[in-house]
Amino acid sequence: MLALIGTQGNGMGKRKDKRAGDELYGRIRQLAAANEDSSHHEVAISEAMLAGSPELAFLAEPPQRRELPKMKKFRFQLLHQWIQTHLEPGRMADVGGGKGLLAYLLQESGWAATVIDPVYQPLPDKYKDLATGRQVHLKAEQSVPHRNQGFAPEMAQEFDLLVALHAHGCNVQLLDAAANSTCAVILLPCCLIQEPLIPPQGVPWIQAVVDYATHKGLQVQPFRLNFKGQNIGIYTRRRPEAP
Ligand SMILES: C[S@@+](CC[C@H](N)C(=O)[O-])C[C@H]1O[C@@H](n2cnc3c(N)ncnc32)[C@H](O)[C@@H]1O
Repeated sequence: MLALIGTQGNGMGKRKDKRAGDELYGRIRQLAAANEDSSHHEVAISEAMLAGSPELAFLAEPPQRRELPKMKKFRFQLLHQWIQTHLEPGRMADVGGGKGLLAYLLQESGWAATVIDPVYQPLPDKYKDLATGRQVHLKAEQSVPHRNQGFAPEMAQEFDLLVALHAHGCNVQLLDAAANSTCAVILLPCCLIQEPLIPPQGVPWIQAVVDYATHKGLQVQPFRLNFKGQNIGIYTRRRPEAP
């Protein structure tokens, strides 16, 4: 059952949360029941579950494609390519950006990029350029603006795009921010750590995130990148105002 932790302090609030959870998860509880591996809260989405998800089914890979090699370590480069292909440069925050390679690559492509992460880490000293196949070495003086703090809702006003790539503790906050601002959000959620939304047992976190975004009235465009691991993302934003 869905739980929204810490949002309401009284019994009335808890009843409201339970109703919201029942409403939100009525359909995916059926999916979970059909999933044999439903004993753990954090399950990776299987191709079979993907195929059963109305929003994500088109991302499921046919068996012959599953055998194709996937890149191991290049999630930053692949997400950078996706963003470059689909969006015009603007002001972006790499929320939970870790070492900040995604923000660096976007900065090189004309974005005003900032890392928002309570833990500061320096940029990596090298990365592989997928277009040339070459290692690119970063100089010590190369940098990206960094805010040593957790994401806070008011930050959304300063950016056109918020990205959380395998970040934790801020996915639900970013969806709330998208619902309350004009900012677009890209999420590739990988784990539930420190999130206020707990999906029913057996329901993958990515499905819960999609459902939460839909529940908030956001437009949701799922996509999938060719790397090993949780490689499904959503591009989401508020619907344009009705005329
Ligand atoms: C698993 S790491 C992912 C780092 C990087 N995006 C990557 O893909 O390698 C998750 C990051 O989220 C950061 N984080 C945790 N809570 C956060 C919050 N409330 N706001 C922003 N970042 C947060 C952590 O400090 C950590 O660097």
